Amino acid sequence: MTVPILRRLADLRAQHATWIRAGEVVGVVPTMGALHAGHLSLVEAAKATCDRVIVTIFVNPRQFNSPEDLAKYPRTERADAEKLAPFDVDVVYVPDPDQIYPDGYATSVSVEGITDVLEGTFRPGHFDGVATVVAKLFLQTGAHKAFFGEKDFQQLMVVRRMARDLDIPIEVVGCPTVREDSGLAMSSRNMRLSVEALEKAGRLYPIMTGCADRLAAGETFDQIEPEARAALQAAGFGEVEYLDLRCADTLAPLQTPTRPARLLVAAWLDGVRLIDNIAVPQLSD
Ligand code: PAF
Repeated sequence: MTVPILRRLADLRAQHATWIRAGEVVGVVPTMGALHAGHLSLVEAAKATCDRVIVTIFVNPRQFNSPEDLAKYPRTERADAEKLAPFDVDVVYVPDPDQIYPDGYATSVSVEGITDVLEGTFRPGHFDGVATVVAKLFLQTGAHKAFFGEKDFQQLMVVRRMARDLDIPIEVVGCPTVREDSGLAMSSRNMRLSVEALEKAGRLYPIMTGCADRLAAGETFDQIEPEARAALQAAGFGEVEYLDLRCADTLAPLQTPTRPARLLVAAWLDGVRLIDNIAVPQLSD
């Protein structure tokens, strides 16, 4: 089965209008392509609760921090279309760049507060790029529901805040991270890891779950952090940009998981920046 690819907003809108006239629920799965099982789990979630599903593929230049990173980002449209074929999605929207950023484009969407920490510290401007393109994709697709992975936990929070603040009538649905057998979170960036580095990357998740177990047993974050960083170094990771315990609702730093909490990490391995996060079982006050 071939997937129906649309590249122009006018075509997407014409298609969307017929669905809305029929009273159908439209879901969107925004992606930058290089699809993996994590993305496909979002498509499955969308298919389960929506009458119509749009997958968007757009490598958004505004969310990259360096031209090199943008240039290295995998572009695999044909393989992506093959992966989507069995899912019977209604439209794959692969907008031409001028459909998102036409000549003279001058608007940016910026979410305050929750973007000042973690990814925001190390990737200045990244979330403005994400919020801007996602706002456009929400408005262009007119979807009722949008599906995002918890792997990018802070992104999920930013997108939820943006949709709420701008009164975009869409439900943002967070879906669990899909992992390799080793526990490594699926990511398009994993494609850039060598076989040896992939093996090292598999150490990240057990180190994180080990931290979560100790926090759940009552140790403080300050107590476990040095050993966790040392374990990452011993596993072959380079710079650890952050390893933090944060409140899952506000991203405020925590010492103990007395509220719903997330352990979040960003670390370099073999020239590739990996991020991951897990929920930490809550302790009573
Ligand atoms: O998570 C991604 O793939 C991107 O940040 C998104 C949400 C598609 C926006 O470009």
